[in-house]
Amino acid sequence: MLSERVNRIEESATLRISDLANKLKRAGKDIISFSVGEPDFTTPQHIIDAAKKALDEGRTHYTPSTGIPELREAIANKFKENDISASPNEIIVTPGAKQAIFEATLATLNEGDEAILFDPAWVSYESCVKLAGAKPIWVKTDEKRGFIPEDFLESVTKKTKLIIVNTPGNPTGAVFDENTLKLIADIARDHDLFVLSDEVYEKIIYEGKHLSIASFDGMPERTITVNGFSKAYAMTGWRLGYATAPPEILDAMLKIQQHSASCATSFAQYGAVAALTGAQECIAEMVSEFRARRNLLVDGLKSIGLECTRPKGAFYVFVNVGQYGSGMDVAERLLNEAYVAVTPGGAFGPSGTNYVRISYATSQARISEGLERIEGVLVG
Ligand SMILES: Cc1ncc(COP(=O)(O)O)c(C=O)c1O
Repeated sequence: MLSERVNRIEESATLRISDLANKLKRAGKDIISFSVGEPDFTTPQHIIDAAKKALDEGRTHYTPSTGIPELREAIANKFKENDISASPNEIIVTPGAKQAIFEATLATLNEGDEAILFDPAWVSYESCVKLAGAKPIWVKTDEKRGFIPEDFLESVTKKTKLIIVNTPGNPTGAVFDENTLKLIADIARDHDLFVLSDEVYEKIIYEGKHLSIASFDGMPERTITVNGFSKAYAMTGWRLGYATAPPEILDAMLKIQQHSASCATSFAQYGAVAALTGAQECIAEMVSEFRARRNLLVDGLKSIGLECTRPKGAFYVFVNVGQYGSGMDVAERLLNEAYVAVTPGGAFGPSGTNYVRISYATSQARISEGLERIEGVLVG
């Protein structure tokens, strides 16, 4: 009955666990959720006020498909921070970064093409690649190297069309350094490949510096840079992302958007202008809290015998639980016996089978309690 296309993909594992957890919550259980991929902070007030003002002023209609000019201008200015030169006309505002990623894969990949994903990778890349008819090629990264890819030339074939880069990364929090990005850029240039660079966690970084691969020599003409408001400004429910790309790709993404979402929500875009042009202290405050939570979680896990890499960015730790069973078994046990929701690592690629992802987008008090419960189930 259903299309082959949709049969190629599976339900989002991160959403499935949070749905299960929500069910238990509705049944009155006190669930500690380490599975969500969103900041628990409220959107900063000045951003909310700007959206309310837009509503009061009647800005409730369709906007240009590319986004309102004020926002595209603010994004063009923001890209200068990344050493990316893009005019407002070279930017598309999308309903979430996810929509930009979906449009970019549909715009660049054909049936039978291959796209390189660094394993483990965020869940939706694989599905986007498959929906576009292409094949994901997993390139394993090693936890000992901080989940940073090494030379992957042997995975490049005549069919390779796209490399997906995500730094800082979900689910590992890895931050790619200059040498790693240079390696990827060299391979992309030598083999005439596109790069999709997902930089939504750019601002949530504790060590090292965020670098955009589009700022490397010869990369602007082959890179689609995607970013968004969800993570940096705690705006997940606003559904706002953006991208810049070479003109033909941007035009193709725009066509897809015109015939699917039309445009991003009008008043949300006015809020986003305030996010980019207003005070940025709100980000530093959130990052400082995330850093404290990261340290609490990583140290706590270590003290109960679960060693893991201290992530340099984003708000997740990727923990090897192989000594207690597969990531799926452990996630189910933790949910059913301790009411602690984590995400099974296999959702993020073949190398994640023995891992779980723990999101620390929850308060320090809940992290401490969650650690106690995890210890109770796994250690006894
Ligand atoms: C790596 C990565 N990219 C993109 C997204 C989607 O962001 P948005 O809310 O802007 O669609 C997420 C959300 O979890 C993510 O983790």
